[in-house]
Amino acid sequence: MFGPKTYCVVIVGAQWGDEGKGKIVDVIAEQADLVVRYQGGANAGHTVVTGDNEFILHQIPSGILHQRTVCVIGNGVVLDPETFFTELDQLVERGIDVTSRVFVSDRAHLVMPYHKLLDTERDKSQKIGTTGRGIGPAYEDKTGRRGLRVGDLRHPDQLPDLLRERVDRVNQLLHMMGSEARASLDQSMALLSDLTPRMLPLATDTGLLVHRALADGKRVLLEGAQGALLDVDHGTYPYVTSSNTTAGGAVTGTGIGPTALDEIVGVVKAYTTRVGNGPLPTEAEGALADQLREHGGEFGATTGRPRRCGWFDATVARYSVRINGLTALAVTKLDVLDHFAEIPVGVAYHLDGERLEEMPADLEVLNRVQPQYEVLPGWQQPTSGARRLADLPLEARAYLDRLQDLLGTPIRYVSVGTRRDQIIEV
Ligand code: IMP
Repeated sequence: MFGPKTYCVVIVGAQWGDEGKGKIVDVIAEQADLVVRYQGGANAGHTVVTGDNEFILHQIPSGILHQRTVCVIGNGVVLDPETFFTELDQLVERGIDVTSRVFVSDRAHLVMPYHKLLDTERDKSQKIGTTGRGIGPAYEDKTGRRGLRVGDLRHPDQLPDLLRERVDRVNQLLHMMGSEARASLDQSMALLSDLTPRMLPLATDTGLLVHRALADGKRVLLEGAQGALLDVDHGTYPYVTSSNTTAGGAVTGTGIGPTALDEIVGVVKAYTTRVGNGPLPTEAEGALADQLREHGGEFGATTGRPRRCGWFDATVARYSVRINGLTALAVTKLDVLDHFAEIPVGVAYHLDGERLEEMPADLEVLNRVQPQYEVLPGWQQPTSGARRLADLPLEARAYLDRLQDLLGTPIRYVSVGTRRDQIIEV
């Protein structure tokens, strides 16, 4: 992916998250000097399989699994300090050396226990189906200008007052919501006292770090979390996460300018899944949905919830190409389709007898559209051993060609299994 003119590559999810970004990041990170997480928080669950080991990373960039790669948590991330250090310790236990390899933006906002409590209590009635990781409340505090940033840990004398004000506010909200739950000031204080000595040595101006790395000719990979249709501006609002998951978020969340980006890779699953509530026009039903879920292991990496499954939706993916400015595609989980005799692909929508080529913003409209399917022949033979396009059955190649045509964007990677080596570089 990197080359003489390609120093900065972004990887984004082009559907509703869970596209298999962790695997693609892992493959490309092998050539990267720096890997940056730039938005979201511990709601992400990036799965990487190396040999017999499976790693699910929520907060630390997937690049950590390559020994020479430096990992950065950018300013756009809402950082859950508990998950972060637990994950770091687990990596060390499993033999990964993390010394001098992890940096955290001093501008990144902290996810506190009271954010998680508010998230889970509120979702009982709001029913977005959040991951309960405190993401929405933490971003609300950020835009409401009452967030706590990593850099605030440098002023421990101010923390008790800051925390008291925030915990009181959350408790008032909980009371107004009719919830009996209450946030504890002591819990938040204890957490920050414990973790500050470990956090501060990692805190720095990571935008500057990335800028200098690029100026020195280093290769930088920006690792997106979630997917375009969960973007707070462009997704199926309000059934979205609270950050900009699209490529624009990569620059604001890293602290570099848009001109720094050289390639924007969109990861699409060969079919579609969604976890949580909200529209999913090409959702399959009954036995077909169960088959996709079983063969694809479609259970949330963060919450374990069964994912809703359906067919590839080209209207969604085309929209994603446009709003992200994708320059290349990585198609994942092609092997999951090995089992099907026929594979429907949603090519457009119909609404009240008219053809619709673009994603409507209005959920009421999106809930009423009828996907128009083209049915492609399946291949019904294993693809997980393929390492070149030529190794794939003709029908599988035709399937990929059709996706490429529908999206007008070249496919650079095809993933045919969970392991690192199960990848075709086109
Ligand atoms: P939140 O990000 O926890 O606030 O959840 C908001 C919505 O985004 C819910 O529908 C979640 O299921 C979904 N979501 C958040 N993170 C991920 C992810 O990493 N993969 C897939 N869906 C996600």
